Amino acid sequence: MLRRLTVVTALLAAALTATATGTAAAADTPLRDLAEARGIYLGTAVTGGKLTGAYAGTAAAQFDSVTPGNEMKWGSVEPVRGQYSWTGADRIADFAEAHGQRLRGHTLVWHSQLPSWVENGTWTPDALRTVMTDHVTTQVTRYKGRVDHWDVVNEPLNEDGTLRRSVFGATLGESYIGDAFRAARAADPAAKLYLNDYSTDGLGAKSDGMYTLVERLLAQGVPVDGVGFQAHLILGQVPSTLEANLRRFSDLGVDVAITELDVRMTLPATEAKLAQQKADYAAVTRACLAVTRCAGLTVWGFTDSDSWIPDFFPGQGAATPYDEGLNPKPAYAGIAEALAPVTPPGPAGCAATYTVQSQWGGGFTGQVTVRNTGSAPLTGWRVAWEYPAGQRITQAWNAAVTQTGTAVTATHLSYNGTVPAGGSATFGFNASWTGTNPPPAALTCA
Ligand code: XIL
Repeated sequence: MLRRLTVVTALLAAALTATATGTAAAADTPLRDLAEARGIYLGTAVTGGKLTGAYAGTAAAQFDSVTPGNEMKWGSVEPVRGQYSWTGADRIADFAEAHGQRLRGHTLVWHSQLPSWVENGTWTPDALRTVMTDHVTTQVTRYKGRVDHWDVVNEPLNEDGTLRRSVFGATLGESYIGDAFRAARAADPAAKLYLNDYSTDGLGAKSDGMYTLVERLLAQGVPVDGVGFQAHLILGQVPSTLEANLRRFSDLGVDVAITELDVRMTLPATEAKLAQQKADYAAVTRACLAVTRCAGLTVWGFTDSDSWIPDFFPGQGAATPYDEGLNPKPAYAGIAEALAPVTPPGPAGCAATYTVQSQWGGGFTGQVTVRNTGSAPLTGWRVAWEYPAGQRITQAWNAAVTQTGTAVTATHLSYNGTVPAGGSATFGFNASWTGTNPPPAALTCA
C-alpha cells in the first residue's frame, strides 16, 4: 500500500508539472512508474551474476519486468538430460519477486544455446518430442505462478518466413510448436505463452511468415497468447511499419510485446548518433503505446556494459539506454519522453464579453471576445445573445453572424475556431439602433 501511494503521488506530481516543465518531470520519474501509468510494463534483460550494487539498484528502480539474458535457456537449465540446474534462473526469479517485478521466461524451445545432447543427438520424432515436452513441462512447472510470460518457442522462422530447419523443425516439422505450447499451458495455465522472433518487427516476408503461422496455430486451437518482436535494431532503422505490424497481429486476437529492444551503432558513439538513438527508442516505445494489445517493452540489457552486441556484431555497440558507467544516455530520455503522462483532457470553458467600440446616430460598431477559461483547447465556438431594444446587425467580421428577430448567433470561422486554454478570439460587427442602445443582458457561449 505504501508503495502504491508513493507511486501515485510521484505520478500526480509528474502530471501536474508536465505542462509547465515539459519532459523534465518525466525524466525524474522512474521508467517503470511512467510505464505503469500508461498501461504497459518496461522490462530489461539482466545477467544474474551482476545483480548487486548499482547494477541491481538501477534494474530494480527503473524496470518492472526482468528477463534472464541466458539463465533460463535449455543449455543453462538442463545441460545433462534430466539433470536440472536452477541456481542462475532462481536468482533472477527471486530478484524479480523482491522488487515487485514481472518475470519473462526466456526461452523454452530454441535452436541456439541448446545442450549438445539435444543439438547433436540422433532423434526419432517421438523421442525428440518427448524430450522437448518433458523439458517444457519441468521448467514451466518449476516457475508456475512466478513467470508471467513465457517465450515458449524462440526464432522458429527463416528470413523468408519459412520454418527454420532446427533440430526441432527438421525432425518434427511445424508440429513441434503446437506441442510445446500445449505442454506449457498444461503446466501453468495462467502464464501467457509467446512466440518470439527477430526481423519480424516491420511488415515483410519474415513477419508475413509469422503472421500466417500464428493464424494456423490459432485455427488449430494451439494456446498462443502473444507474439514477441525482438527488435534488435540498427541505428536510424526503426521500421516505419512497426506499429501497423504490431496492430495486425493484435487484430488476430493475440497480445504483442517488444521483447529484446536494442539499437546498435558503429562505434564510436557520437552526439549525433546518440541523438538518433534517442529518437529510435522513443519511436519504438510510442509504437507499443499506440497498440492497445501491446503488453510492454523489454530492452535487451539496460547498460552498454551488459550488451551482447559488441560480441556478436564486431565494431558495433552502445546499443542500450545506459552507458558503461550506468549513466542514462539520451535513449533513456527518449523512452521517458515517450512514456510521459498524457495531460488529462480537462473541460474547455467559454466566456464571452460584449463591448460597443464606437457609436453614432443610428449606428454602432460592437466587438465580442470569446475567452477559453478551461484547461483543454476549444475546438469551435458559438455565441448567442438577445438584443433588448431592437438593434439589428448589418455586417460582421471574424464570425458568421445571423439574426432572427432579437436573437443573434455568431459562429467561428474556419481560421479562428480553435482557441487554446487561456486564449481568446475576437469578432466584430456593425449594427443599427434607434432610441437607446443597451447591451444584451447575457451572452451564452458554447
Ligand atoms: C543473447 C545473450 O544476450 C548473450 O549473452 C548470449 O551469448 C547469446 O544470446 N535473440 C535472443 C536472445 O532471443 O536470447 C539472445 O541473447 C539475443 C538474440
